[in-house]
Amino acid sequence: MHRPGGWACCQTGEVELGGTDTVRESGGPGRSRGRYGIDGGIAAAAVFGLAEAALTATVAWAVHRRKPGIGGLAAAAGVTVAASGAGYLYSTGRGKLAVWAELLDDLGLHGDEHVLDIGCGRGAVLMLAARRLPAGRAVGADVWRRRDQSGNSRAAAERNAIREGVSGRVELVDADARDLPFPADSFDVVVSNLAIHNIRAAEERAQALREAVRVLRPGGRLRIVDDAAGQYAPVLQDAGCAGVAVQPLGWRTSFGIPGHHLTLVTASKPSSQSPPVRLRSRRGAVALQTPIRLTAGPQGLAVCCREGEKEIVLLLPARVGTFGPALGHDAGR
Ligand SMILES: C[S@@+](CC[C@H](N)C(=O)[O-])C[C@H]1O[C@@H](n2cnc3c(N)ncnc32)[C@H](O)[C@@H]1O
Repeated sequence: MHRPGGWACCQTGEVELGGTDTVRESGGPGRSRGRYGIDGGIAAAAVFGLAEAALTATVAWAVHRRKPGIGGLAAAAGVTVAASGAGYLYSTGRGKLAVWAELLDDLGLHGDEHVLDIGCGRGAVLMLAARRLPAGRAVGADVWRRRDQSGNSRAAAERNAIREGVSGRVELVDADARDLPFPADSFDVVVSNLAIHNIRAAEERAQALREAVRVLRPGGRLRIVDDAAGQYAPVLQDAGCAGVAVQPLGWRTSFGIPGHHLTLVTASKPSSQSPPVRLRSRRGAVALQTPIRLTAGPQGLAVCCREGEKEIVLLLPARVGTFGPALGHDAGR
């Protein structure tokens, strides 16, 4: 399999400041030291700020003119806008980090994987992934549009990699999601947060999704969080993905809009190198599984298989089963 690392012109420079990475490698969000801006750019923050300023001015005017009805309404609207703005800031900051920390932990990474973040921006999700990859790589691809995230730039992402103490395992690549500059089957995991919806045309969003699947290795896993990401499911199925599932995310992704939430779509790329193998017991029962690893021991054979998103281990006592020619193994009858 191709491994990232050959894009010397695109790398961050492998700078490690501060020496140690005291942030937890896994098991939760830990304390973030990066500065990740505001999703939606300054325009989103300005909408809340301007509305709040206008309502405050209205309250002041109503008090001055002794118009308690108007003042009361403006004050109530001001409180609502302030709460909504706080919700927006929460979702774009701590909410996003908390949700993605859980999603990454659920992947059960071993720490040596190569992960691609499509539309990484200033790197909130990318750095969370990098913290969980002490022996792996976290690659962020983006066109770094400022209207999509405040202060968005490749330099900002580089600074965050340094602040988080993970720059030695992070690579940043100038790339459009519709035309990724990576060979097929490059990454163990592909993630994307709030990026693909920024591509206007549905066919071009579909192209970006097909690119995500192309660069994923067989057996690799895909996690996309976006507005209406449920619409991506049929495209991923058409692109050959297995286990495509759509899940609404909760209040932490509401962005201050009551009832609103982002959606998670999960999928995996079928493993062409691990065809299903037939396991036959003495009693004749047959199970079809997709093996990932075989480990022979004194007790027999441990067969690690993928069942949907999970890895399961089947323990086969010696002389119980026969492995088909797909693996070229024999359980030792
Ligand atoms: C709302 S920001 C989210 C950034 C990051 N995923 C995060 O959660 O912090 C959306 C990102 O998508 C990127 N983006 C928009 N269109 C893109 C495209 N065609 N290819 C790659 N990235 C794109 C923007 O530059 C921006 O960084």
